[in-house]
Amino acid sequence: MLDDRNDPLEKLAAAHRSLEENLNDLARAARALGDARGRAAALEGLSGVVAYFERSMSRHQEDEERSLFPRLAVLEAIAPTLERLRQEHKAHQRAINALRAAIERDGGAEAAEVLPQLIDDLRAAYQRHVACEEQEVFPAARRFLQPSAMQGIMHEMETRRGRGGQGNPAKGISGRPHRPGGMRRGP
Ligand SMILES: [Fe+2]
Ligand SMILES: [Fe+2]
Repeated sequence: MLDDRNDPLEKLAAAHRSLEENLNDLARAARALGDARGRAAALEGLSGVVAYFERSMSRHQEDEERSLFPRLAVLEAIAPTLERLRQEHKAHQRAINALRAAIERDGGAEAAEVLPQLIDDLRAAYQRHVACEEQEVFPAARRFLQPSAMQGIMHEMETRRGRGGQGNPAKGISGRPHRPGGMRRGP
């Protein structure tokens, strides 16, 4: 029987909430760049959040592209949606790369101008993407996937995080990593 602790779709949705929080952190850190006195600290904070966001987002994308989507490939009705979501993952990755480049290129006034827009764009793109996954793909998975497939996805997600299904299942993939700069972090 699946409960929230071993339900991979709940875990993926929880990761969405966490990524949204991180996007809020990014927006907050980018706003702080406007104050020249606090700019160096704001840039450091921003860099930490971007690094965390990169890691968690790429793991989440792998969960979807390597564990969830392939198991739904036989559902012809959502095949085009899955392909579009894969392309959007690439676009999100490019947006994060642009963000990282803007931070590294210039800690000055230009970054203060460019970064909030880059983050707003990423947030808007991410919102549409998540809505589609949660309203279309996850419900289809819930209807279609057998318990053994759900367990398989969960196991792969745990393995991807070096946990291999061992340890405390209550902690599982929601275990909180190191939180540099005191900012919120999630799965
Ligand atoms: Fe996705
Ligand atoms: Fe997702």
